[in-house]
Amino acid sequence: MTHFDIITIFPEMFEIIHSGGVVGRALDKQLFELKTWNPRDYTTDNRKTVDDRAYGGGPGMVMMVEPLEKTLAAIKQSHTQVGPVILLSPQGKTFNQQMAADLLQNEQLSFVCGRYEAIDQRFIDRNVDLEISLGDFVLSGGEVAAMAIIDAMVRLIPGVLGDKDSALQDSFMDGLLDCPHYTRPEIYENSVVPGVLLGGNHAIIEGWRREQSLLATQKSRPDLIEAARKKGLLSKKDELFLKQIQT
Ligand SMILES: C[S@@+](CC[C@H](N)C(=O)[O-])C[C@H]1O[C@@H](n2cnc3c(N)ncnc32)[C@H](O)[C@@H]1O
Repeated sequence: MTHFDIITIFPEMFEIIHSGGVVGRALDKQLFELKTWNPRDYTTDNRKTVDDRAYGGGPGMVMMVEPLEKTLAAIKQSHTQVGPVILLSPQGKTFNQQMAADLLQNEQLSFVCGRYEAIDQRFIDRNVDLEISLGDFVLSGGEVAAMAIIDAMVRLIPGVLGDKDSALQDSFMDGLLDCPHYTRPEIYENSVVPGVLLGGNHAIIEGWRREQSLLATQKSRPDLIEAARKKGLLSKKDELFLKQIQT
């Protein structure tokens, strides 16, 4: 079972995970474990201070090393074996589906959610194994990023999704974006479900879905087509279809 240990000064933000949906149900079923650790609990002053002004001046506060390091030590003490320490950071490697799958190989992961202007670099240098960014934008804290990453990882845990093939059909799993999906009614204000999906021929439906995936990927993320080609994930039939849509 995967254990997620989260260092955060806003542990209540993670209560949302318990409120339902796929991830909440997986937590109830103990398909993974999530525990929050508040650095304020590892301070020694009455005000439970976790931040201070930056050396050299400048706006914003900096998270201090000691409370963070003591929190991490408590996490390490609570497990016989620990995995990587991950810092959520705009300076990190941009998260993707492959990273979600790779990280899931670890039984335990510690996530450090930053707040304020920065984290004292000495904490990062001494303790962090991997920095992960959600994208090229700045959030006010690492909590939302940690939740997004955990959500993406939990979907890949066997038994979490009702249909075992659901995750395999998601965008990025085969290097491409997902195809369009439809449900009842068949006609909605003159907008009609593609006839191929109503025919019941599974081979034809699969072929159509593959083409639609290629089409969506070529349109929105041509870089993924190139990457899939390099990894040998495109068949001759795929290449033929791509040629057709480009002419
Ligand atoms: C206000 S931000 C600090 C931004 C920092 N001064 C900078 O410019 O890189 C506070 C915290 O939010 C989190 N954060 C912000 N943007 C993020 C992103 N794109 N991905 C992951 N975490 C992010 C980090 O944990 C960061 O320490």
